Amino acid sequence: MSLAVVILAAGKGTRMKSALPKVLHEVAGKAMVQHVVDAATSLDAANTVIVYGHGADKVQATVQGEHLQWAEQSEQLGTGHAVAQAMPLVKEDVVLVLYGDVPLIRPETLRDFVQCVDDKTLALMTLTLDDPSGYGRIVRDGQNNVQRIVEQKDASEAELGIPEINTGILACSREFLADCLPKLSSNNAQGEYYLTDVIAMAVQSGLSVETLQPEFAWEVDGVNDRVQLSRLERLYQQSRAEALMRDGVTLRDPARLDIRGSVQIASDVIIDVNVVLEGDVTIEEGVTIGPNCIIRDANIGAGSVVEANSLIDGAIIGEQCTIGPYARLRPGTELANKAKIGNFVETKKSHVGEGSKVNHLTYIGDSQIGKGVNVGAGTITCNYDGANKFQTVMKDGAFIGSNSSLVAPVTIGENATVGAGSTITKDVDDNGLAVARGQQRNVSDWKRPTKKS
Ligand code: UD1
Ligand code: CA
Repeated sequence: MSLAVVILAAGKGTRMKSALPKVLHEVAGKAMVQHVVDAATSLDAANTVIVYGHGADKVQATVQGEHLQWAEQSEQLGTGHAVAQAMPLVKEDVVLVLYGDVPLIRPETLRDFVQCVDDKTLALMTLTLDDPSGYGRIVRDGQNNVQRIVEQKDASEAELGIPEINTGILACSREFLADCLPKLSSNNAQGEYYLTDVIAMAVQSGLSVETLQPEFAWEVDGVNDRVQLSRLERLYQQSRAEALMRDGVTLRDPARLDIRGSVQIASDVIIDVNVVLEGDVTIEEGVTIGPNCIIRDANIGAGSVVEANSLIDGAIIGEQCTIGPYARLRPGTELANKAKIGNFVETKKSHVGEGSKVNHLTYIGDSQIGKGVNVGAGTITCNYDGANKFQTVMKDGAFIGSNSSLVAPVTIGENATVGAGSTITKDVDDNGLAVARGQQRNVSDWKRPTKKS
């Protein structure tokens, strides 16, 4: 059976007090509605229709996905009216209704949910809460069969006591939905077309209503304000941290790790406090990450150590490397095995060969560094002339004395030596020495100037 997902995202989100449409506020570095679109994608939905109202330009510019369509709801007349706006774009057999501000619903949960839908069965996601106030309540008969949903504002005293609530998520056949949505009335306490009224219609037309509950309550938590947004963020981070720990990763404090993207972390990795992982990050076995590190779109090879306060962005790091403390690896950095990047070193678009060391206070940009190279403290590759960028090559075994400037394009030969304090503008031969600095002059018994009286 083909599946269409309808995502309701027309609400204004007044309580966010924001110029940004509510569904574009982020959880784990990703817009809420994008989380929902991604869930639809992993269900292999043939069609995803986003019902939008406010901030259409911004939402359309941000959200990415396959088989996306857009339906405008210019006036927010209720959830039933919202789904009706999507229906002309839906041709699939089964329709799943999700919410743009309920971002953390897991695809696993939805897969089971959608599977119980057929011509005779509607699926409804519910939850039992200690405090059900505000939500629609699930009304059941003596045989425990669902009869209808009653909204908080329309509920009787007895109905208000029902602890089982409607999460809003439902799935049913397109045919049934197309048939009953035009029959909805707005004759209720809020004067809205309630999607929830289709439940009673389903029961009347002989469909059975199956209820499912999510494994975690946060999967169906909605966001109305920034306090709820931050709570959801914490719940999400906690669940990711717990999953990592179960897979063999040591987290010094699971509450002080933030993951904003997709990560693969092998066992016996140790992550200290205040670490942020962003984008696509792969960390291999036995790696240690010190406190206060940010790692974005990077691969870190087995046994490497990242010391405190390092920023690694767009880098590929080999095995048994040491990085930091206070290192900044920028995009295009590649470290071969056992390379060492020390404190206050910045690298960009550069390859550092096996066992090479760049230990202190250095900038390495647009460079190819061979094996066993030692780059002294304070070395700068002058890669930019104000208009163009040029390459610096340091061949295997080269030794660069401290405080040298290597003016690119330039090549330092194999096992060549550069004297400290040199400004190198010409290539240095293999095994050669280049010294390019003012000669030292010594004056005996030098008298310092004295203050005039
Ligand atoms: C709805 C349900 C309620 C359920 C609750 C779960 C109805 C009538 N009620 O109530 O049973 O317990 O969700 O959170 O469905 N939206 C539109 N267009 C509209 C109205 C809403 O796109 O015209 C979107 C909103 O942006 C939001 C979602 O639909 O993402 C839910 O709307 P909301 O007004 O929050 O519904 P509730 O009153 O909370
Ligand atoms: Ca709501």
